[in-house]
Amino acid sequence: MAGPDIVRSVDALRRALAAYRRRDETVALVPTMGALHDGHVALVDRARREADRTLVSIFVNPTQFAPNEDLSRYPRTEEADLRRLEDARADLLFIPSPDEMYPSGFATTVSLAGPAKAGLEDVFRPSHFDGVATVVAKLFTQSGADIAVFGEKDYQQLLVVRQMARDLDLGTRVVGHETVREADGLALSSRNRFLSAQERLEAPLLHRTLTACAELIRASGHVSVALDQGREAIGRGGFKLDYLEARDARTLRPVEDRPGAEIRLLVAARLGTTRLIDNIGV
Ligand code: PAJ
Repeated sequence: MAGPDIVRSVDALRRALAAYRRRDETVALVPTMGALHDGHVALVDRARREADRTLVSIFVNPTQFAPNEDLSRYPRTEEADLRRLEDARADLLFIPSPDEMYPSGFATTVSLAGPAKAGLEDVFRPSHFDGVATVVAKLFTQSGADIAVFGEKDYQQLLVVRQMARDLDLGTRVVGHETVREADGLALSSRNRFLSAQERLEAPLLHRTLTACAELIRASGHVSVALDQGREAIGRGGFKLDYLEARDARTLRPVEDRPGAEIRLLVAARLGTTRLIDNIGV
């Protein structure tokens, strides 16, 4: 089986995509930072269903890491990633270097409001979404992709990117894909490898708590009671909770602002040194 073509410069990317365009083929982009798992592969499968050609980018984007977040600890598994993407039948891989994406003198950042300032991840990772939005804006304009597939796993990121693409008329439609989970409910994440054996046994409590909260809200309508119980359960389970919140699924505004809106429950908590996030619809 011939593997996907690999390009490492923006020029080579544009040449490869121009060949697709000449044949009137549509392109779906899946942006990643590598360390690929079955969640990423599900996005690639979705991309293949949505467009004629599938483009996957692998770039560990330095601007979305804070100095304390240790960019150097981010797992890099290029060989294994290439095998996975070959099996997933991606057509084209874009693997730029940091210099290719941020040549010296780079000085522009996308400035965000709306879902990027919802008071969730943005509180704990203040410049994170500026870095995400800027690199995603570059990937969208470099590729001119018709659609881009993002995971609901990073729900705030999905809404930030969708808002930006719409506001800046980037011409790429953002599609959200459901979270892929382990059998015990733990959302797949490149960070799960940092959990100790004991922590790995404790980690599914996060998803179990979200599910219990959602059931209680559906049954009783008591959002704040459900959240209080959920926060207590997560604390008792040995996590340090950053937040557990119920928000409007489309805007991430507090639900009290719009009774009757579709609700999303979002959580972030630390188990030892590993920070986990998850979310579900009510
Ligand atoms: P990364 O963490 O590699 O994730 C790439 C994509 O995979 C994101 O859209 C993310 O939401 C999705 N994903 C991760 N785990 C998933 C799971 N268990 N189920 C479904 N989808 C999952 O997110 C990023 O990279 C970066 O911020 C990026 C968008 C590439 C910009 O640098």
